[in-house]
Amino acid sequence: MTAFQNLKINIENGICIITINRPDKMNALNRETVKEIGMAVEEAIDDKNVKSIIITGEGPKAFAAGADIKEFMGLNKEQGMAMAKAGQDVFQNIENSSKPVIAAVNGFALGGGCELAMACHLRIASENAKFGQPEVNLGLIPGYGGTQRLIRNIGRGKGLELMMTAGMLTAQEAMELGLVNYVVTQEMLIPRCVELLNIIHGKSPFAIGAAIRAANGYTGTQEGFEVELTEFGKCFASEEIKEGISAFLEKRKPQFN
Ligand code: COA
Repeated sequence: MTAFQNLKINIENGICIITINRPDKMNALNRETVKEIGMAVEEAIDDKNVKSIIITGEGPKAFAAGADIKEFMGLNKEQGMAMAKAGQDVFQNIENSSKPVIAAVNGFALGGGCELAMACHLRIASENAKFGQPEVNLGLIPGYGGTQRLIRNIGRGKGLELMMTAGMLTAQEAMELGLVNYVVTQEMLIPRCVELLNIIHGKSPFAIGAAIRAANGYTGTQEGFEVELTEFGKCFASEEIKEGISAFLEKRKPQFN
């Protein structure tokens, strides 16, 4: 794996942990860091030794406190759009990863940090975590997919409330709204993610990828059901379904890898 300036990477037991490493800046996502996250995720997806990915932030205070506000100064409309497009593309690749990606939210997940967490497939938060989209304080709105993913995660009313008030959700509130899967102590954050991923590692990787693609195909219309049909059908063309069904019939554990 490439050595990154703003990330720490650790690959162990099939899990690639990507740690945003700018703790003195609350792990704020400057352009370079967003680019590096994109590269690290791509490399992890292509790495045969990696089965899943955890994204977290260095230190006890922040997952990521948003895009780096200093980089907004003096941008015009086109430059603003280009910046958002670069971030949207990286976050979309995370969402579309066929390998599961968990956000281990260890503190503030604000602005782009909240958007990054929402691009991941699952979110586990430590008790001190806080979630928010405070961009309106700056005269801005979320631009890395947050307006869309927040509504999808917590609904239009609560999503718009968060965006318009710039308020913050505690980890507990975020869990009650379905934004977070589990809330644990800070010490248990990575172990809980690893525990979940070890369960997922025992399942068919092809089917996991298909489940992600089908879930990402959700539109609330017939279109989503069509995506499910396609992905369901594709499972029958994979080798893994043969192993899964044989193992069930032979009353043994499947060996997918
Ligand atoms: N962009 C750039 N720098 C940031 C940042 C961001 N989004 N968030 C924090 N930082 C920097 C601060 O400027 C400060 O740098 P300095 O030591 O050089 O002055 C450092 O990180 C520590 O932050 P500080 O504000 O002193 O910590 P705090 O504990 O008092 O407050 C937050 C923490 C997260 C509540 C506060 O930093 C904050 O509100 N950040 C901005 C959140 C935001 O609006 N995000 C959306 C951006 S679109």
